[in-house]
Amino acid sequence: MTHYYKLGNIPHKRHTQFRQPDGSLYHEELMGMRGFSGIQSLLYHVHPPTQIQKILLRTTVGITFEESGVLCHRHLRTATIKPGRDAVEARMLLLSNADVSISVARPTEAMSYWYRLAHGDEVIFIHEGAGTLESQYGNLRYRPGDYLVIPTGVLWRIIPDINIEQRMLVIEANAHIEPPARYLNRYGQFLEHAPYNERDIRPPDELVTHDEVGEFEVRVKEREYQRNGFSERITSYFYNHHPLDVVGWDGCLYPFAFNIEDFEPVTGRIHQPPPVHQTFEAPGFVLCSFVPRLFDYHPQAIPAPYNHSNVDSDEVIYYAAGNFMSRKGIERASMTIHPSGIPHGPHPGMYEGSIGKQQTDELAVMIDTFRPLRFTNHAVQLEDKDYVYSWLT
Ligand SMILES: [Fe+2]
Repeated sequence: MTHYYKLGNIPHKRHTQFRQPDGSLYHEELMGMRGFSGIQSLLYHVHPPTQIQKILLRTTVGITFEESGVLCHRHLRTATIKPGRDAVEARMLLLSNADVSISVARPTEAMSYWYRLAHGDEVIFIHEGAGTLESQYGNLRYRPGDYLVIPTGVLWRIIPDINIEQRMLVIEANAHIEPPARYLNRYGQFLEHAPYNERDIRPPDELVTHDEVGEFEVRVKEREYQRNGFSERITSYFYNHHPLDVVGWDGCLYPFAFNIEDFEPVTGRIHQPPPVHQTFEAPGFVLCSFVPRLFDYHPQAIPAPYNHSNVDSDEVIYYAAGNFMSRKGIERASMTIHPSGIPHGPHPGMYEGSIGKQQTDELAVMIDTFRPLRFTNHAVQLEDKDYVYSWLT
């Protein structure tokens, strides 16, 4: 995000003496992107963030993709994946390429450690559930419909509320995730035509400074790509001070929540193309929000989308809520993948059937990737093999 925010206590002037009650200095840390030329924040720690006591290689997991089959439209049913474990361990990776990885998760436990992704931002879409995203930047409450956007290197954990079912769609980038550049003016402020703006962004709002001592684990994940898959390496760093020991921070880099209900849909007299639903962008993919909205109002309009060949992208849609049940075989938490190379479009009856409809109550998240996605073995196990023929009358 590009707008300035601050929380807690910070010195008047950056890089100057800022002392703790006992007279010792607080420890300043700059967290910034793109080598001191991107967005950044300054954090003030009770303890140096560099004091590692112990390092362990926790896991190296090889992830292989399915052997190439035929190129076709695919449908994954993720509703029935088993709940369990924490918000990182529960992730079931389904689709990936060198730019982005897409997982689903149904965590039931709080993370007992803190976590950071070494080489990219992540977005966690909260389909179901509520809880707290805890980070060095403070606590941020989350609720259904939230996109939790966590920049690279932010150290966090998720503590789900007790006895509330959690269901998450996780998008891990290999770069930075940002609002579309066309929504911003030259100063970084959202423009009037943007479907959301600064007021819709929720940064952490409760900074708790922890000064406990003991043993605290931080897990850092990296990825290494190989020919037919990749490996994920998680290194555990142990500290004898609590990692969330920040007394104050300011800047433009921080995790935030943006709720899909705050996305203001753009509508028109005739059918509007998917870019009007764009919410975020990153190198190699875009993320769009399909939200309840009025349909097209030209007297001869056809509200359903036309057939289309998305020749430069693989199109992933995750169905969260709404009337998509009328679409053949699609259910809540379904994921469809319409690859480049072949056209797709509305199911039989939908095109004509949409004429005269006034509005839709659909809620879905779309990820369009610019390079082909590969399917993991988990994805294959969730597949509805009949989907490819579902356009036959
Ligand atoms: Fe499409």
